[in-house]
Parts: sequence; C-alpha cells; structure tokens
Amino acid sequence: MSYDLSGKHVLVTGASAGIGAALAVGFAKRGATVGICARRTDQLNVVLERCRVHAPESRAWTVDLADLDGLAAFARRASQELGGVDVLVNNAGIPKRKRVFDLTPEIVESTMRINYFSPVRLTFALLDEIVARSGRLMYVSSVAARLSPPAEAAYAATKAAISAWAECLQVDLRDTPVKIHVLYPGVIDTELFHLPDNDPLGTTGVEMLPVDAIVDPVLTMIEQDQLEVSVPDWFNGVYAHKSADVAAFLEGTIAFARSQQ
Ligand SMILES: NC(=O)c1ccc[n+]([C@@H]2O[C@H](COP(=O)([O-])OP(=O)(O)OC[C@H]3O[C@@H](n4cnc5c(N)ncnc54)[C@H](OP(=O)(O)O)[C@@H]3O)[C@@H](O)[C@H]2O)c1
Repeated sequence: MSYDLSGKHVLVTGASAGIGAALAVGFAKRGATVGICARRTDQLNVVLERCRVHAPESRAWTVDLADLDGLAAFARRASQELGGVDVLVNNAGIPKRKRVFDLTPEIVESTMRINYFSPVRLTFALLDEIVARSGRLMYVSSVAARLSPPAEAAYAATKAAISAWAECLQVDLRDTPVKIHVLYPGVIDTELFHLPDNDPLGTTGVEMLPVDAIVDPVLTMIEQDQLEVSVPDWFNGVYAHKSADVAAFLEGTIAFARSQQ
C-alpha cells in the first residue's frame, strides 16, 4: 500500500446521498476522519452517524457548493474544524440530460458551475495545505466525458473539463508528493437518474450497479496511487474502441439514439 488512509482527514463533497455517501462511509471504515458536505442537512446527518460509528471525529457542513464566492470561506472552516484536510474528494455534481435544442447558455453555465468551477475553487482553496500534508486530490468525472452519449452535451462537457483539469494537475504537481485520482462511474443506481428537469435515462443497455460497487475500486485507486478507475472496468475497452475511430463510434451512437426515439 502506498497511501495509508488510516488517520487521514478526508473531505467528501456531495455526501448526503449516492456515491459520496458510500465513499464517506468507506473512508471512515478505513480509519479516516471524514468531513462531509451537501445542501440537505437531514440526509447529511444520517450519513454522519454512519461515519461516526467508525470515525467519531467526523463532521458535516450544510453548504451550497454552487455558491462559488462562499467556497474559500467554507474550505477554511472545514479545514479548521476537521484539523486539516489530507484528501479532497470532489464528488458533488448534477446531471443534465437534455438534447441541445432544450439547452440554453444559462443551463450550460449553471451545470459547469457545480460540476467544474466548484471543484476547481475548492482545489485552489485547499491546494497549499494538501501539498504540505502530502495529500491526495480526487475528482469524480463520468464515462460520459469520454463517450459523448446522447443528450449529454452540457453534462459530458463538465466532466471532460474536470478530467482534463485533473490530468494537468498531475503534471503540474510533479515535484510534490501529491497524487491525483479520477473516478469514472458508469451507470450507478443513485438519485442522479431521478432528479427533475432531466430527460428520462431511457435504455442504455448497461447494467445499473449498486452504489457500493464504487467503494473498493476507489479505495484501491487511492491506496495504490492509481490515476484513474472506471466502474465497471470494461468501459476501458469502450474508450479504446472509440479512440480507434471516433467518427465510426459516433455513427454507432447516433444509430442507437435513433433506435430509442
Ligand atoms: N450515478 C452515476 O451513474 C454517475 C455516473 C457518472 C458520474 N457520476 C457523478 O458522481 C457524482 C455523484 O453523483 P451520484 O450519482 O451519487 O448522484 P446523487 O445521488 O444525486 O448525489 C449527488 C450529491 O451531490 C450533492 N450536490 C448536488 N448539488 C449540490 C450543491 N449545489 N451543493 C452541494 N452539494 C450538492 C447532492 O447533495 P444535496 O442534494 O443534498 O445538495 C448529493 O449529495 C456526481 O459528480 C455525478 O456527476 C455519477
């Protein structure tokens, strides 16, 4: 094991539900003290109690991460109350399943705000501290960043942006002990597919996995200093297939989308 999570302080955004909640409990079980945040206080408190069974000093904060101007102050507060941050897990995010005819510049920009600009602001706020503590920065991207699925232009672009940001950070941080990690979830059974103001998911042909399927691959990625992990891992073959002939891959996607209309 290259990075021991035991005794570390891990801040997980968007941990009131779904992947973030499962990861928070997973980190706590590894002996990390966990800080969790999101907008829904009641749900955060349920997750906090689950974390505290394993990590009694864990904390929760109610915060709207789309309020970019408040993020530096939030990061300072979270760090002070947690006793420092070793690992920042940028997980909070929203879907945006709409064809381009139903998008507006405002929708695109608000999706970018929570899925891209918010984790970037938190990174700036905590970077010096994480470097000083030889910590880790993790970003939750999406297979959509690499596969350009139907009705996902706004969403996939936010995830492609965060992937590019993360990869460039790994290069820029080359003279520090910090490692970058990127999670590419496939279709994981969370509230993300039931939120209002999105097109229905439709048939994907991809099996929806339970949220716990994420936890071990993520812990292994961090503990073994791996840059990225896709869950399920067979998506790696799909990326390779796409990069071999992008135009042909998109033709296949168009044919699939037409078959769903
Ligand atoms: N599920 C999948 O198949 C899948 C696939 C690819 C990528 N992802 C990514 O995985 C991450 C987690 O998604 P999920 O599937 O677990 O979805 P989820 O169950 O809807 O969870 C999203 C989390 O983000 C929080 N959040 C959203 N907007 C926020 C805001 N403005 N301020 C603070 N917190 C906010 C939500 O909490 P509150 O509502 O309480 O604020 C919630 O805790 C996202 O980045 C998503 O894009 C998921």
